[in-house]
Amino acid sequence: MRMRISPSFGSAMASSFTVCRLHTIGRGSLVKCLQKVDTFLHRNIGTNVVAVQEKNGFKSLYAVQAERQEQAERSVLISCHSRTNEKKFLKYIANYGDIQKYFFYESYGMYAVVEFANQESVASLLEGTAIPSISHESLVPFKSRLLSMRNLDSVDLPNQPSGKKRQAQTSIPINELIQRLSKEESIDQQITSLTEAYQLTEENCRLRFLVCSLLKDIAAAFFPECTIMPFGSSVNGFGKLGCDLDMFLDLDGISGKNATMPKSGLFLEYQMKRAHLERIVTQNILSVIGECVDQFGPGCVGVQKILNARCPLVRFAHQPSGFQCDLTANNRVAMKSTELLYLYGELDPRVRHLVFTVRCWARAHSITSSIPGAWISNFSLTVMVLFFLQRRSPPIIPTLDHLRDLAGPEDKSVIEDNDCTFVSDFSKIQLESNTETLEQLLCEFFEFYASFCFRTLSINIRKGKEQNKPEVAPLHIQNPFETTLNVSKNVNASQVDRFVALCQESSWLIQQNITAPPRGGTKGKATITPWGVSTLLLPSQVAGIKSRKRRKFEPASERIKSLLESLKNTNNQQNQS
Ligand code: GTP
Ligand code: MG
Repeated sequence: MRMRISPSFGSAMASSFTVCRLHTIGRGSLVKCLQKVDTFLHRNIGTNVVAVQEKNGFKSLYAVQAERQEQAERSVLISCHSRTNEKKFLKYIANYGDIQKYFFYESYGMYAVVEFANQESVASLLEGTAIPSISHESLVPFKSRLLSMRNLDSVDLPNQPSGKKRQAQTSIPINELIQRLSKEESIDQQITSLTEAYQLTEENCRLRFLVCSLLKDIAAAFFPECTIMPFGSSVNGFGKLGCDLDMFLDLDGISGKNATMPKSGLFLEYQMKRAHLERIVTQNILSVIGECVDQFGPGCVGVQKILNARCPLVRFAHQPSGFQCDLTANNRVAMKSTELLYLYGELDPRVRHLVFTVRCWARAHSITSSIPGAWISNFSLTVMVLFFLQRRSPPIIPTLDHLRDLAGPEDKSVIEDNDCTFVSDFSKIQLESNTETLEQLLCEFFEFYASFCFRTLSINIRKGKEQNKPEVAPLHIQNPFETTLNVSKNVNASQVDRFVALCQESSWLIQQNITAPPRGGTKGKATITPWGVSTLLLPSQVAGIKSRKRRKFEPASERIKSLLESLKNTNNQQNQS
């Protein structure tokens, strides 16, 4: 069913939209705001989801991306007002076309994402916009799909409820998560509850694709047929609310690299000036687009061109969405890694649950960080979980070599001499019947890495077996596709020590807290005592280990006990008050 709201507003309404202008006052508070995750309201108005290739109930990442990209191109982002009346707002927007879906969210102000049934409606809405005139600033006549609703009087009903229900869509603070998990009945339930609390929501995913689509509009000024696709945790199934938005500017379709003789026999006259190496081409392209994003990109602030990195990128904050964005180009291997992680995550639900739990645990103990440094990255950590799952008996997921052997000719992929081939047809993958529970797997994960010989062995998901380290490095995780590279090259020895010590401690802690304590309490209120996964998220006694020197490990530390005790007491007091 589609909703068509009667177009009772005339063309005079056009003046209510202006192309959005955003100012960067107080960047410190912006950073805080970006860390704060959004509040969403959403409504589904019918579905017009294009049927995509599904095999055995699985959708390939390619199919998911194509569908979402198409949705994003039919969408606009509107800065509105917290008092904006939902019904009036919709009536207003419906003048321009059928609305397919919409939702409101808060991020440094109130915004609405509106998806129209077709792209013509976006064009008609844009025709009805004006660039606001501000006397003391020069205007850039760049029209984007980020709009702001200025004529608020006609849509606001002051002193009346706005009619918008709010649905929290935040990754809850760790203390709240600990409390929530403590109420669950089993460790398996705790793990699924953790995944539900942290994973990206449908709306957050849509917003990510929309931001890519808005960026593509800017890049298209230079490269009309380019695409910008999200990759990494935004789409690989392991993204946590608030994770960065990794974007890939794809010019391959227009670079002529794969061009065959066109029917017309005509080729575009084309020259890349002053560039002989592909890397320089990438740097030049990103430099130009980065400049453009900086000068004219609505809502794009704090633009940094990090062009000398191994993988050159443009980093900025997209203020209206609250996303920290990394725009890269010529980064096809990372797209393949994303596809591979997505595939593993889809093969067995335990994969995603375990990755989410381990990522959350690692973040709680500062094993990972959002700041670049000598820490283990989320990507490395995910590969470690995958490797562990390959080492189960029987294995829960197949090796990458096995996935390559199952590939058909259509899957063949060689990127810069690296074999990135693996099967895309899920139905060809036969899984072994491993019935281990999430609880068992989590306990075993800590045991596995608590005693892993990081000194001599390398983690290798291609072979699904430990290999001798090919080079000296505190942590060696073979890059799945660029096999001569170590994805954890940045990690220093003390970080590996902390990881091992925390695995040992967590292995002990979970064994001690494997069952939910009996519910007690006064006045009918249950006492919440941290147990199971919750205890793993409490501060640790080993977190401060810095040196490589081995310490005598004391699992039954008084400090942990007293922490658990103090949490219990706080709960008792709260329940009694
Ligand atoms: P978070 O952003 O921390 O949530 O996780 P992420 O998986 O998005 O990691 P990140 O933003 O650091 O990197 C984005 C993607 O780039 C990853 O998912 C990988 O696909 C790829 N990537 C990151 N680091 C490496 C690396 O060292 N080697 C390879 N091959 N790919 C990498
Ligand atoms: Mg990322």
